[in-house]
Amino acid sequence: MDPVKLMKQEVGRAAAAQVKSGTVVGLGTGSTTAFAIQFIGERIASGELKDIKGIPTSFQASVLAKQHGIPLATLDDVDHIDIAIDGADEVDPQMNLIKGGGAAHTREKVIDGLAERFIVVVDSSKLSNKIGTIFALPVEAIPMAIAPVTRALKKLGGKVEMRMGIKKDGPVITDQGNMVLDVTFNGIDNPAEMEKDINNIPGVLDNGLFIGLATEVLIGEVTDGEATVRSM
Ligand code: A5P
Repeated sequence: MDPVKLMKQEVGRAAAAQVKSGTVVGLGTGSTTAFAIQFIGERIASGELKDIKGIPTSFQASVLAKQHGIPLATLDDVDHIDIAIDGADEVDPQMNLIKGGGAAHTREKVIDGLAERFIVVVDSSKLSNKIGTIFALPVEAIPMAIAPVTRALKKLGGKVEMRMGIKKDGPVITDQGNMVLDVTFNGIDNPAEMEKDINNIPGVLDNGLFIGLATEVLIGEVTDGEATVRSM
């Protein structure tokens, strides 16, 4: 198997093993969490895991959860989330994250932020010394405000690009019907402040900075074809 896929698979398996019967589980979005969803489904099918409620962070997560037999619920049905498992695009040594490579960061922040334990699952390529140096920051904005939001993000020092669809002409449209601006900063000095400053721009729904939300980061690595998982 391709080493990156192997890292994602093993870290997904390790996170899925943390889920206990009778719990409410936030189901993240992306290719790494997809493995966690698959393994949670396998544990349910084998009878090892019972009475799980999954809260999906995106349309993709809900489709995958249904495919793998995970019962779903909404935030209207539960008063807490025990554990959330989700990927990330960049992780710094303080466990601050950039998310939103799949344009799902707004719902992810709601669900991951409510979870008692938020386990981040990444392969080692996502680790960075300074947040904002390896991945552009995704910002979800409502379509009628795209022009002023773009100007405001440039004033904050970012290089702004609207995310365009693949195999679809025109922009990516989020699960909420909005657009995504990818903002390159080449390193963010004060990520907590930047998260707030961006979210204060009228027309912005949320941005992909997740500050102080992760409780654990599991990192998949491959050495000599052998996959290992370590905790940050
Ligand atoms: C979805 O919008 C993102 O936040 C993903 O969780 C993130 O992009 C990680 O995805 P991969 O696991 O596919 O790298």
